[in-house]
Amino acid sequence: MSPDASAKPPAGEALAKIKSIVGDKGWSDAPDELAPWLTDRRGHYTGRCALMVRPSSTADIAAVMTVCNDYRIAVVPQGGNTSMCAAATPDKSGTEILFNLGRMNRIRNLDPLNYTVTAEAGCILQEIQRAAAEADRLFPLSLGAQGSCQIGGNLSTNAGGVNVLRYGNTRELVLGLEVVLPSGEVWNGLRRLRKDNTGYDMKHLFVGSEGTLGIITAAVLKLFPLPKDVQTCFAAVRDVDTVLELLARAREASGDAVTSFEMIGRFGVDLATAHIPGVADPLDKRYELYALIEFSGARADSGMAANMEAMLEGAFADGLVLDAAIAQSESQRRALWKLREGITEAQSVEGGSIKHDISVPVSAIPAFFRRATQAVVDYMPGIRPCSFGHVGDGNLHFNFSQPKPMDRKEFLAHWGEVNRIVHDIVVEMGGSISAEHGIGQLKRDELRHYKPALDLDLMRSIKAALDPKGIMNPGKML
Ligand code: FAD
Ligand code: MLT
Ligand code: ZN
Repeated sequence: MSPDASAKPPAGEALAKIKSIVGDKGWSDAPDELAPWLTDRRGHYTGRCALMVRPSSTADIAAVMTVCNDYRIAVVPQGGNTSMCAAATPDKSGTEILFNLGRMNRIRNLDPLNYTVTAEAGCILQEIQRAAAEADRLFPLSLGAQGSCQIGGNLSTNAGGVNVLRYGNTRELVLGLEVVLPSGEVWNGLRRLRKDNTGYDMKHLFVGSEGTLGIITAAVLKLFPLPKDVQTCFAAVRDVDTVLELLARAREASGDAVTSFEMIGRFGVDLATAHIPGVADPLDKRYELYALIEFSGARADSGMAANMEAMLEGAFADGLVLDAAIAQSESQRRALWKLREGITEAQSVEGGSIKHDISVPVSAIPAFFRRATQAVVDYMPGIRPCSFGHVGDGNLHFNFSQPKPMDRKEFLAHWGEVNRIVHDIVVEMGGSISAEHGIGQLKRDELRHYKPALDLDLMRSIKAALDPKGIMNPGKML
């Protein structure tokens, strides 16, 4: 709900002030222009807004935020709208202002010797990756939505993706932030420093805050040497216990240069090959479980191919790996990743899917996987497990597709029950009910159910200190 339960649409004079600040190109209330931005990526939530603003400068954002603060108008920051938890979707009141950051997309600075890039929040992730590569550097954040998600959204959700094992989450990749606070003040924390111990590290309050504490307008991000030697394989593994043994061998064999270590089940491969054009099973025979593994080295002669072959030979000899394909070209490498990243879309084509984005300690993955799969299959015979994802980080996308004959809507009505079965096991094993996608609207009640009261109180105290009027993204997360 917006800050004031009896919220009325913003006063006409407030809207007039906002429109004059951003100019004609900086706002829209045309239903057809707003429509794509009012429904979440998964299509579960649709909201309304009083106005969508697309400001092009920090100064404009600060001026608009000042008006919203003065008139107590709720604000929903939005990047690429690829959130998996409807964290950027306005509520149904039609009283909120939707801030789309898409026009704040300049790269302000790229310093190869400092290994940093300073990018505005509306920069699409893929554009930052490209700018870094042109300077012979790597910006390592990489996820399936990189063609449309923006770095402001990545920071605000502390996005993970497929390279966390080597480079960490977005939180580990940021050195400084510029943020417009709910008051309209601009906090300039754009430090290009790797060391700065002068009080609380405020940037970390805003990373992962899902638009509830302020609007991120720019960030200083870490860069890395651009890998010159990348090797990728798709290996059929004996069982889920083997996957972890293989991860350990991969880390040793590569000299701890594993960039990605993804797990994919049989059903995920079948869905991707059935529903994603151009995707084929990389192996001739069918197996039950696979690992997609990538090594990378900064030197062309890092010897990653030999390291990967040695790892696979040993794993074959010990019966851990049953079959494997090593990409022989960039196009073969991309084909393997297209299979992995196509699973999400393939699942939605297949029908209803109840999803979990969980993490447990990496060593607990096999026990969790077996116990939680059995618990859900017992609850709904015929449900089809579709687990895949970043097993190297202990993070599984532990999804279930509907039993074939079942009605989609009737199946999805079990979302809460299935979530509770899975999340109870996750929490009992010391895991998290949201590894990388955040909370948004989708998991707000689950957060309240599982998070200790003191954690929630501390978060509410921080929220009250920074956003006393509660105008930032109401109804999300807390
Ligand atoms: P939005 O969806 O627009 O917003 C997300 C949240 O950030 C909202 O709370 C919004 O209010 C806030 N926000 C946005 N911009 C700002 C800003 N400038 N200042 C303050 N708050 C802001 N996520 C992962 O972590 N790992 C994955 O592997 C992954 N894979 C995905 C694959 C696909 C195919 C898709 C569709 C999504 C995937 N996601 C993944 C989820 C999603 O892409 C990420 O959460 C991403 O970081 C969201 O970025 P966005 O720009 O789309 O943000
Ligand atoms: C992924 O890793 O593909 C996503 O985080 C999973 C999803 O889209 O549900
Ligand atoms: Zn993911």
